[in-house]
Order: sequence, then C-alpha cells, then structure tokens
Amino acid sequence: RLLILDFGSQVTQLIARRLREGGTYCEIWPFNAAPEEKVREFAPKGIILSGGPASVTEGESPRAPEHVFSAGLPVLGICYGQQTMAQQLGGQVEGHDHREFGRAFVDVLADSALTQGIWAKGAREQVWMSHGDRVTRLPEGFRAVATSDGAPFAITADEERRFYGVQFHPEVVHTPHGAQLLDNFAKAICGCGGDWTMKAYRAEMVQRIRDQVGKGRVVCGLSGGVDSSVAAVLIHEAIGDQLTCIFVDHGLMRANEADQVVQTFRDRFNIHLVHRDASDLFLGQLSGLTDPEAKRKTIGRLFIEVFEEEQNKIGGADFLAQGTLYPDVIESVSATGGPSVTIKSHHNVGGLPEGMRMRLVEPLRELFKDEVRVLGRELGIPEEIVGRHPFPGPGLAIRIPGEVTREKADLLRKVDSVFLEEIRTAGLYDAIWQAFAVLLPVRTVGVMGDGRTYDQACALRAVTSTDGMTAEFYPFDMGFLGRVANRIVNEVRGINRVTYDITSKPPGTIEWE
Ligand code: XMP
Repeated sequence: RLLILDFGSQVTQLIARRLREGGTYCEIWPFNAAPEEKVREFAPKGIILSGGPASVTEGESPRAPEHVFSAGLPVLGICYGQQTMAQQLGGQVEGHDHREFGRAFVDVLADSALTQGIWAKGAREQVWMSHGDRVTRLPEGFRAVATSDGAPFAITADEERRFYGVQFHPEVVHTPHGAQLLDNFAKAICGCGGDWTMKAYRAEMVQRIRDQVGKGRVVCGLSGGVDSSVAAVLIHEAIGDQLTCIFVDHGLMRANEADQVVQTFRDRFNIHLVHRDASDLFLGQLSGLTDPEAKRKTIGRLFIEVFEEEQNKIGGADFLAQGTLYPDVIESVSATGGPSVTIKSHHNVGGLPEGMRMRLVEPLRELFKDEVRVLGRELGIPEEIVGRHPFPGPGLAIRIPGEVTREKADLLRKVDSVFLEEIRTAGLYDAIWQAFAVLLPVRTVGVMGDGRTYDQACALRAVTSTDGMTAEFYPFDMGFLGRVANRIVNEVRGINRVTYDITSKPPGTIEWE
C-alpha cells in the first residue's frame, strides 16, 4: 500500500484512483495529519506528495513532515509536492512569468526507474501542467530526467534514495502515459504487488469495523440508495445484530421502493430494520410550503427528529454509520473555506444530525462511487439497488414545484414509473446518470376522444453526468419520447401533456428545485 499526502490539489483523488486501477491500495491523508507514529502503523511502501494551490516561496506554505524523507521509503512529489520536496532537501524553487497551464511537452534527457518502459531518453512526450513556480536548483543527489519549456526540471530523480519528482500531473488523463508512470512508482520502485482487490478490501473492512466497534451498538440511516445500502450490509457482515438500521420513510420515494428496501434488508439480509412510515408527518408539515429551500429545510429537520425518536426507542447507540464516500472526504479536507453561494441546501439521509454526538463508522470513506458498486456486488446486493440512479434525500418533494400533497406525489409516481419502465425496456438505464419525471404546477387544455381535457402537465428529465456536478440532457430519439408521452397521457389520469427538459447543467440543475 501507498500513502498519499494531500496538499489540496483539485486532482489529488485521481492519484488514488489511478493507483487502485493498477491494483495498488492507497489512502489520502491531509499533509498535516500524518504524524510519524501513525504513518509507521499504516506501513506504506512509499509516499506520494500531491499538488496543491500554495506556493513554497511563501513562508507559511505547507511542508511535508520531515520523517517522510528519513523513513527510507521511496517518495514521489507531484507538482507542489515536487517543489516542497526540492526545497526541503536543499534545492531551490522560484516563481516565473512563464506559467504552464494545460497541455505541455517534456523532453526526456535520461532513463530512470520512473519512466522505464514508458519514455525513453530522447523522446518528446505530452503531459498536463498547471504551475507557476518551478524547481530551479536540484538538491544534492538529484538529477534531471526530463525538461520542459516552463520547467527545467520537469522530472527529477535521486535513484539512490528513491526520491522522484514530477512537475506535471501524471494522474490526469491528459498525461497519456501518466497512469503507467504512477504504476512504475508503485510496483517497480516501491515493490507493491498490484494484487489489491475488492474482496481483500471487504475482508479488511470487516476486521476494521469489528476492531472499532467492539461490543458497541451501531445505528445506520438506510434510504435504499447505493451508499447507505452497501455500508449497512458490510457493517452487518462485521457485527451482525449489533447493527440496527432505521429507514425513515417520508412518503416521497418512488413507486415500490419503500417495500423493496424493507424486503431486501429485512428478509434477504436479515438486518434488524426499523421501518418508520412518517409520511403523514412529512406531508402534513409540507402543506402550504412552496419555497424550495423551505421545503428542503423542513424535510431535513423532520428527518433528524424522526431518526432521533426511533433511535431513542431502541435504547440509543454508541456509533452512527454513514455511507460517506471518498469525494465527500476530499472535499471537506481540501475546501479552502472561501465564500460560496448556497445553490441548494442538500439533505442527505446519511447526514450527521447536528448535536448528535456519536462516534462515526464510515466504512466507505476510502472508496469512489463505482468502487462502492463493485463492493456492493461483491456483497451480493441485488443489481436493482447497486446499479440504481442517484435519488435525492428530499425525494419527490423537489420534483413537485409548488406545494406537495399526497395526491400529487401519487400522480408523479405513476408518470415516473412509466418513464423508467420504458427506459429499462429500451436498455438505456445504465447509459443514463439519472432519469425522472417532474409534475408541473400548470394545467393545460387537451382533447381526448371527443372531449376537452384540462389537466396537469409533466416534464421528463434524463441526463448523463460523471459526478452530478455538470450534466447534459440525454439525446433520446424522437420515437422513444413519442412512445413515452403517448403511454403517460393514456395511462395516467390527470396528465394531458408531456414535455422533455433539454437544459444542461449549468445553467440548469439536475433537479428542478
Ligand atoms: P442538482 O439538482 O443540484 O443535483 O444538480 C445534483 C445531484 O444531487 C442530487 N441531489 C441531492 N442528493 N440530497 C441528496 O442526497 C439532496 O438534498 C439533493 N439535492 C439534489 C441530485 O439528484 C443530483 O444527483
């Protein structure tokens, strides 16, 4: 395994991704949360120093802990990591007018263990750069392996101590052979075997959960989404009945999903599950609310209230389990804390209720979404849950602009299930990030048979995305859309018009509220 010390680069998590794709397990820790003792216990075979937004030429900028360079382990510094390593070992770093952002080329001057089998001496290779400062004098023992217009020391190596530095970012796909370079560091230089698998991770996590929890009791908020489902099944495997799952059912799930959650977890996995039907409470409190933020906040608050109530009923717990993923962790570590605008106040079923002082069990903290899916399959969780599209915590409430009522939710569920059924039949479900229907607060005139109708309109939304941050509408063919619209108007009483939302994000958002 390797340890990555994070200096706050936007792309640090990609380093971990690339390494794991090559079968090397690694973890990312903040650079200032890696005391010698803790690192020794983790026993990495090598350490990677990430990039970061600071400048080593400024006094207060972050430094790698000194023990990193005295542990006898190989070290790879990337961008800021290279610069701080160079400076800390006696070299020099300077700012320069010739900044490099984006595609750049390096000339390979010498062979090295890092570039072995990828880039030979004399080659000119494409890389991706993002820097203003550069190393201008090498520490003793180092030599230049490659150079670029903006960085005299684009790759540096001290083969004796096994210290390497790269000014560019090998972890991004725009550095075509970057993944191989990281793989060389892990395998040829650090001696990692490349045999890390999800099966091994599962066994290791089960042991870690047992060690952490001991004889304690754990509660977990279950929503039927991928993350909380996988976390629950994994924890259950580790500690069995010491785990209780609480499913706060706000009555705003899709058709049949609540039943499916109960069946899957109670009957199939034998997990102790409290199913609290709180739909009257939620719908009652939502009555009269039309402002999107007010709706979101109400749902978030009620969720916590009900969750706490149920938790008290079972006599409390020592730990709260959450399906926190890697990107969430990284965001909270690297956030610079600058002012940003709240577009939407997200409510997450796994969100830690403020004031609920419990220790956390977060077995998915090291994983990316697609890795969570692999783990879910490994645990035998049905494909309908593991491969499910993301579903927002506030549920259908944010797909019903205006006031939410039980009748509207029921109507929307019918429209939504026709749309999704057609998507599944057409084999498109997995090609789409999220697809759903929105119930519009307008009535329009139509004609059915010989009669006039005056019913509600709905919108369909389907997008592709890799992380939900940006999205494109899905380009269905017109025949498909026509078929869906026809079925909805014919089968769902109360709807007489169907529209398709073709807004990208930005400027739109995925949900309507
Ligand atoms: P937006 O609408 O902001 O959505 O473009 C981006 C992604 O986040 C989901 N979403 C939520 N997820 N709690 C959640 O757990 C929320 O309050 C919430 N609001 C939006 C949305 O479905 C999309 O995947």
